[in-house]
Amino acid sequence: MLVLGIESSCDETAAAVVEDHRVRSNVIYSQVAVHERYGGVVPELASRNHVTKILPVVTSALEQAAVTIGEIDGIAVTQGPGLIGSLIVGLETAKALAYAFGKPLVGVHHVEGHIMAIFLQRPEEEREMPDFPYLALAVSGGHTSLYRVDDWGRYRALGTTRDDAAGEAYDKVAKMLGLGYPGGVVIDRLAQGGDPRAIAFPRPMLNKGLDFSFSGIKTAVRYRLEQGGAPSSEQALADFVASFQEAVVDVLIHKCITAAQGEGVRDVVLAGGVAANSRLRAKFADSAPEHGLRVFATPLAYCTDNAAMIAGLGLHYLAQPRPMGFLALNAYANLPIGACSTSHG
Ligand code: KG4
Ligand code: ZN
Repeated sequence: MLVLGIESSCDETAAAVVEDHRVRSNVIYSQVAVHERYGGVVPELASRNHVTKILPVVTSALEQAAVTIGEIDGIAVTQGPGLIGSLIVGLETAKALAYAFGKPLVGVHHVEGHIMAIFLQRPEEEREMPDFPYLALAVSGGHTSLYRVDDWGRYRALGTTRDDAAGEAYDKVAKMLGLGYPGGVVIDRLAQGGDPRAIAFPRPMLNKGLDFSFSGIKTAVRYRLEQGGAPSSEQALADFVASFQEAVVDVLIHKCITAAQGEGVRDVVLAGGVAANSRLRAKFADSAPEHGLRVFATPLAYCTDNAAMIAGLGLHYLAQPRPMGFLALNAYANLPIGACSTSHG
């Protein structure tokens, strides 16, 4: 089955063609250059940019996959959660294409796309896959949540952040240090030359249930900068960001281990933009065996926002059509997991 995926929930305009979990194309137009001077995503600018980029991105995805829209079996689009103006651009484009070319359409959940992206493969690739049930950590700029995943479409939320998402903490700390936007990649790179034990930043709510809190780490960073001033050398900066990163990574790993053991599952999947973090991937891979766990980190190309994960998820829902007109599909800024993927043409 050939599925065209469309994703526009935040500041990436993305389209992809997936054939039975084999990614034939994965095109992403990033708006980072538009938003970086503001230190964060400006919703109105994001929507306007999606409008101008969505059709060229869809066209490139079809071209790179060497297929025509006529050959596509169905279209999947992100229905939520996300920035409402941004979501509407992808959703209405998908509806128009589905209507004009007579294709079935399914609206899917963005975070569900992230936690199922682990199954995406390049055309010739073979890799070991997690077994159901598994624990999924969805960790990005907008989300930090733990799910028990029993099967496609069967999820149970176990914990979530009470304040900032982990990626948001990376981005805000990078902003405080004048490192630019988005901050995750820059901190990841700088931290590689630093000492993660240099500064003992707090690990909030470490042994208190499965919810997260990252605003405390961010506040500790701010106090430290106000009291001690900005790091005075390249090494001091590397030590500072490595120590911040270690606090975030320790909390994420600890909660995953606690949740996996509590649920009696062996496999843990890391998904979302922060799952691209090199320290999180390496430290978890090192410590997992001693806890009897196997860690599966989503391939880097499918960690940050992309449409291959939307197409890969849509494949499952398109295979079980339900009688509902897709022209009635709405976008939702807030959307619980499991609440969409129900409307098809
Ligand atoms: O999944 P994503 O593209 O968008 C959301 O759904 O939010 O995640 C973006 C977030 C940003 O906060 C970014 O700073 C963070 O993921 N990020 C990283 C890394 N790459 C992206 N954080 C830590 N280390 C990275 N290598
Ligand atoms: Zn995302």
